[in-house]
Amino acid sequence: MGITVFGSLNYDLVTYTDRMPLAGETIRANSFETHAGGKGLNQTIALARLKNTVDDYVVRMIGCVGQDSFGEQLLDLLKESKVDVSAVRQIENESTGTATILVEEQTGGQNRILLTEGANGRSTYTPAELDVIFNSSKKEDSRGKSDYVVLQHEIPDPGSIILWVKENCPAHEIVFNPSPFHLLGAHIWASVDILVVNELEALQILESLYTREDYERFHGEIEIDFVQGYTKICQEFQKNLVYQSNSATVMITLGVRGAVFSSNAEKTVKYFPASRGIKVVDTTGAGDTFLGALITQLYRGNSLWEAVKISTIASSLAIQKKGAAESIPSYAELCNYLKQAPCLSIG
Ligand code: RIB
Ligand code: NA
Repeated sequence: MGITVFGSLNYDLVTYTDRMPLAGETIRANSFETHAGGKGLNQTIALARLKNTVDDYVVRMIGCVGQDSFGEQLLDLLKESKVDVSAVRQIENESTGTATILVEEQTGGQNRILLTEGANGRSTYTPAELDVIFNSSKKEDSRGKSDYVVLQHEIPDPGSIILWVKENCPAHEIVFNPSPFHLLGAHIWASVDILVVNELEALQILESLYTREDYERFHGEIEIDFVQGYTKICQEFQKNLVYQSNSATVMITLGVRGAVFSSNAEKTVKYFPASRGIKVVDTTGAGDTFLGALITQLYRGNSLWEAVKISTIASSLAIQKKGAAESIPSYAELCNYLKQAPCLSIG
């Protein structure tokens, strides 16, 4: 089967500016561009482009667009990347979701994003519909290899999909990127095999599920030693938050500082530093690129360390170009880059 992504498809309206305007202030921006985006679509494109050229599994996207030109353009991009879009719905009388993005060019491509949900709000699935989507893949995969289901939180109810998949397709690995953060019950987190969060989302999970004392204790650890503090949170989530299978994995991305990660299989928490010395143009979609690359590597059976290394390089290439989905490199481009820059400095 392969990898199935449930998620958002957005048309990104991006204005590049030296600085953000203050309330009531009008300033001149540098440029305006439109790009394909949405965490669901970005991660799907990353999964499709970054799989090794000899790997022949299918990447498919499940989501909704409007019956408009924005939606058509997003579907065309997915098809160009050989994504199976047969289950993407084009909803009548709905607009394709949009993201209005301001990228601050003078401060390293930091962004601020305003979402309008549009057709993404219709991405809900009844058990009967999920049954059709997963019909051919309910039983254990004959290759003895798990398939992956990837979700984020730009659709209304990823929790129901997670619970359904856990119960009905136990051979699938559930990858969850709870972005943007919303409150969810502990039983939903406990059904996730691979949890990928950024530093802020990690704190939001802590705050929502742990006691005030626990939250403050972990927060205090971060203030004393940033990486060490997140290492402890990573360990905590991996042992007590996610599903306790052999592949239980928690990854906390730390922006310019890299990532910490831990899995049941590899036991100890590890720290991988970010790439250094690159010119950051636009960080939009960097996390999505990282996640997509990560899952392609795990699907191949590579170690978590190797997977994080490829993800770090892939996202460092993406942030050197404008836009989200369009800036994601292919696996061939990534290899080419590594050939030209074998001494690429990480750390
Ligand atoms: O993660 C980046 C994405 O977030 C953008 O492409 C935008 O559409 C928002 O969903
Ligand atoms: Na980019």
